[in-house]
Amino acid sequence: MKKYIFFLLSIFLISCDVTNSNKNAMHSDTNYRPSFHFTPAENWMNDPNGMFYLDGTYHLYFQYYPDSNVWGPMHWGHATSKNLVDWKEHPIALYPDEHGYIFSGSAVVDYQNTSGLGTSENPPIVAIFTHHDPEKAKAEKIDVETQGIAYSLDQGMTWTKYEGNPVIKNPDIRDFRDPKVFWDDTNSQWVMVLAAQKKVMFYSSPNLKDWELLSDFGETIGHHGGVWECPDLFPLKIESTGETKWVLLVSINPGGPNEGSATQYFVGDFDGNTFRLDPTFKSQLDKENNFWVDFGRDNYAGVTWQNTERSNGNKLFIGWMSNWDYATKVPTTTWRSAMTIARELQLHKDENGFRLHSIPATELDARFEEIINLNQTKVTAQKTLVEAPTVELHKSKIEMTITLQQDTDIEFKLSNSANNSLAFGLDASENEYYVDRRKSGKLDFADKFAHRLSVMPRVSTTNTIQATLYIDKTSIELFWDNGKNVMTEIFFPDTPFTQLSVTTSNEIELTHFTIDQLN
Ligand code: FRU
Repeated sequence: MKKYIFFLLSIFLISCDVTNSNKNAMHSDTNYRPSFHFTPAENWMNDPNGMFYLDGTYHLYFQYYPDSNVWGPMHWGHATSKNLVDWKEHPIALYPDEHGYIFSGSAVVDYQNTSGLGTSENPPIVAIFTHHDPEKAKAEKIDVETQGIAYSLDQGMTWTKYEGNPVIKNPDIRDFRDPKVFWDDTNSQWVMVLAAQKKVMFYSSPNLKDWELLSDFGETIGHHGGVWECPDLFPLKIESTGETKWVLLVSINPGGPNEGSATQYFVGDFDGNTFRLDPTFKSQLDKENNFWVDFGRDNYAGVTWQNTERSNGNKLFIGWMSNWDYATKVPTTTWRSAMTIARELQLHKDENGFRLHSIPATELDARFEEIINLNQTKVTAQKTLVEAPTVELHKSKIEMTITLQQDTDIEFKLSNSANNSLAFGLDASENEYYVDRRKSGKLDFADKFAHRLSVMPRVSTTNTIQATLYIDKTSIELFWDNGKNVMTEIFFPDTPFTQLSVTTSNEIELTHFTIDQLN
């Protein structure tokens, strides 16, 4: 009897404890749940996958493990949005099967029903993804990853796996994954770009089922600090010259400019068979080899939407807002990790060569409203710019143009009453922008989270600085100089940041300075 009472008592105590720790988790989770960035309601998420736009709806799939808040057997989760801010999560789109886990990939609207998987009246959406076989991985086999397809006849809501999978067998390359497919109108073919360890490989197909190897790129080009992953290839028109160039994105992990995972890019031409670097870009690369979509630590595996119709022909991009250096340890428990805001990628060219810019997608504007205007404010040394409750900085957008003299250091600081702060600004002597999260709150959950500040060369020396910032509860996205220099970083303050101040080494003028808040 005594034993029985002891047993019941222990069960009771254990369940109290679980309830309490859940409560604590829930409490800190609520403080960290982003206001305008996509997170799954529960559990683990990484890369964005299969994004396409159809009939006014943006579809976003993502690497998802529904049974835990750390990485595990990969599924494709699914969410949709009409405005790129408010997302609705749907049932899981793709489950692991006899070929393995469902790794990253893309989706296309097969308008001409080239695959025969739908009809011309109801064209199929076809998802192309990597099957990763965990048994083969455990046995240290080489042919772990193959490419498979699935199709949807109800606009991406439910999916059927193609029975002829795999559509591309493994060619004896251990890391062989993340297919991104697009319709090449000039050559009337589907083109796939795929990561293959130290390079990307290009394939073509008439029907999304039969694929032929075209060429490869990159074995000795660009950064190789880690394995190549999640490539993307698309044309962009340069507004100033009217010429069209092809941009190749390649994520690498590790080996990013501020450690861990990051996404590099290349500019060139694609003739339907081979991608070749543009000669100007090649000489830029020979000089610098420092071309990243985002220099911050938290924008990885990002790719572009299919089937978007932007009037300027630019591409819409979203990234996973974390870093493999610490993603599985960040201090949220109910879910883990968020996506970046959606961005428009633009290609620019000037006397220094090509540069890829990212600017926040204009679709976001509709959800933000101006509440503070500090235009023409002069700052000589230090100034508190805004404080709660006038503004809720953790759901804000800031736009600024600063006029400054040569050699001026500027530091902005977000802070709270718990003595946490996040600093960012311009270091004039290095001509570098930086983000410093070394005092930003919870830091010790991972060694590599805050052991250094993140820096980025400022590719301009003019006496004005322009910036657009998006600040959420646990992230800042900094678009400096019209999106020429971009940094995305996450942080976990003990309480929300409530104050924004600025410190400067010479007088500056905030020629333009407005704060919008999420409405
Ligand atoms: C990138 C990545 C991909 C892979 C997926 C697995 O973050 O490693 O290469 O498909 O994550 O979840």
